[in-house]
Amino acid sequence: MREENEALPIKEFYNPRKSNYEEVYRKSMEEPEKFWKEASKVVEWYRDYDVMLDDSNPPFYKWFKGGKLNVSYNALDRHVKMHRRNKAAYIWVAENGEEKIVTYDGLLRRVNNFARSLIDLGMKKGDRIIIYLPMILEAPVAMLACARIGVVFSFVFAGYGAGALADRIKDSGAKLIVTSDGANRNGKVVELKKIVDEALEETSSVGTVIVVKRTGTSVNMEEGRDIWWHDTVKDGQTHVEPEWMDANDPLYLLYSSGTTGKPKGVLHGNGGYSVWVANTLKWAFDPQEDDRWWCAADIGWVTGHSYIVFAPLILGLTSIMFEGAITYPAPDRMWEIIEKYRVNILYTSPTAIRTLMRYGDRYPKMHDLSTLKTLGTVGEPINPAAWKWYYENVGNSKCPIIDTYWQTETGGCMIAPSLGLGLPPLKPGSGTFPMPGVEPVVLDENGKEVPAGQKGYIAYKRPWPGMLMTLNNDPERFKQVYFEKYPGMYFCADYAMKDQDGYYWLLGRSDEVLNVSGHRLGTIEVEDALISSREVAESAVFGKPDSVKGEVIVAFVVLKDEFVNDREVIAKIRKNIRENLGPIYVPEEIHIVKTLPKTRSGKIMRRVVKAVALNQFPGDISTLENTASVEEVKEAIEEFR
Ligand code: WT7
Repeated sequence: MREENEALPIKEFYNPRKSNYEEVYRKSMEEPEKFWKEASKVVEWYRDYDVMLDDSNPPFYKWFKGGKLNVSYNALDRHVKMHRRNKAAYIWVAENGEEKIVTYDGLLRRVNNFARSLIDLGMKKGDRIIIYLPMILEAPVAMLACARIGVVFSFVFAGYGAGALADRIKDSGAKLIVTSDGANRNGKVVELKKIVDEALEETSSVGTVIVVKRTGTSVNMEEGRDIWWHDTVKDGQTHVEPEWMDANDPLYLLYSSGTTGKPKGVLHGNGGYSVWVANTLKWAFDPQEDDRWWCAADIGWVTGHSYIVFAPLILGLTSIMFEGAITYPAPDRMWEIIEKYRVNILYTSPTAIRTLMRYGDRYPKMHDLSTLKTLGTVGEPINPAAWKWYYENVGNSKCPIIDTYWQTETGGCMIAPSLGLGLPPLKPGSGTFPMPGVEPVVLDENGKEVPAGQKGYIAYKRPWPGMLMTLNNDPERFKQVYFEKYPGMYFCADYAMKDQDGYYWLLGRSDEVLNVSGHRLGTIEVEDALISSREVAESAVFGKPDSVKGEVIVAFVVLKDEFVNDREVIAKIRKNIRENLGPIYVPEEIHIVKTLPKTRSGKIMRRVVKAVALNQFPGDISTLENTASVEEVKEAIEEFR
């Protein structure tokens, strides 16, 4: 038996061409000026930068100060001018199997056309818009059109409900929304435009809604506000001159959960971000000119922003973009696509792997997966059993698994095996080593580095180009959340361990943020949504380990006096969360109790509820006021089993 953290011999993998990781990494640490001068050439600059890093006002770091560029120019025009005019940028696969191939030239045309429409609708540099779209080509088109004219977009994942959308509209101050009539999901239609209508009842900044016709669902079009994409966007040849953006002008805003009820508006810039995503894709995955790259995330999450849209286009790659769900209509959907389109590199999540693994080996065996040469994962730690299944059944024991650890805030991969720089021997479940330019450290509560083999908090000792610039409307929270715990360092809020060989193992969140199927969800967001239900007086929410989803949401709820504990009440509570926040937020278990454990000052002790429910040691309960509530939590759980 192989020990769990013993490395796999490197010879098991295909041609690890390069082996200069150590040299490149050392250069990035010791001679950053030289290193980034070289690495920043992954994009074409309209004006070269003067200063690599302005750190005069930490933590508001300014990378590549003085540099000017345009991200859509780098993603499109540059390739069209070179030899990639007719190369496929996307092979788009619809849920029903329909396919569309769009070339770099075709994508540039569509982006110019949409940029023209945005200008005609009065949008200008610095304005904010919301993109609320499913996985259709209009999504990258809209993102790149914004990048072209300097409009800051905030993409809201199409699985979010009206309340979550309204919060993001309000915080971003968006003037315009791009959406579709509906979205296809598992053979059903989700009525997106209807959700937009609901969200707009609560907000006032939006003057225009552009609606893509996707599902043919009937929609309400409000006169003077709502317009169809196909009536508005003229599909012809038009050239919109790229807006030459400062490296530190914002590119997009993407909301992510934190430890309070209010999502954080993570702001990424033009220069550092694009240099970072393109380099990290190269370093981690080593894509070749003719490879077919499939990042199977949704564009609405950061993984999709960075590795379906910006990085692969900047590198001039051909991507698969898939509209549907990986188990619809059958659990071999993913394998069917890989065979049909001869995919070379697959980048997905541990949750997807565990879901497909549950259906057994026979599904991947139904298809020829021999074109695959590299596999990747992201979103949460991958357990060795899932790693092994992925390695053997999908990669036929010949593809390295690139386990990439990063966050919405980091813009791109931070810790991952660098296939492009010489692959290290892999250890299943470890992200291995940092990307060049990244200096991680594992610390104890007091900021002291912990010895090898011990668990601590991971932090980064120096800024990197892809890091968030700030939190929208909240620079104080930006400072406090990421830079207060360890002054001068970026705090990730994850546990980690560095082993004797220097490998990093990521061990999950250290705060009360949940990771459900690789999605980051805030406990307080769910609690707030619960108590916004008419029926609910109080609630405590926590994550319970789950063998497929990583974690599932468990809620303990106290009803208002006038309601009784029955199925109907629980169904109503669920419905409210689904409509407000979205289906991923709906708790797997809802337990109704009469009281919740509280401190003397009346604070609900979520930690105690969790420990008791999961049959763990509850720790210090000396401040607990109502011990009877603990018994009640126990009973509720026992009844449920
Ligand atoms: C959190 C960030 C990065 C895009 C998807 C999620 C966890 C992410 C890994 C990994 C262990 C991981 C961390 C992190 N995480 N990748 N390879 N191994 N943990 O982005 O929603 O910003 O969530 O996901 O806990 O903090 P996100």
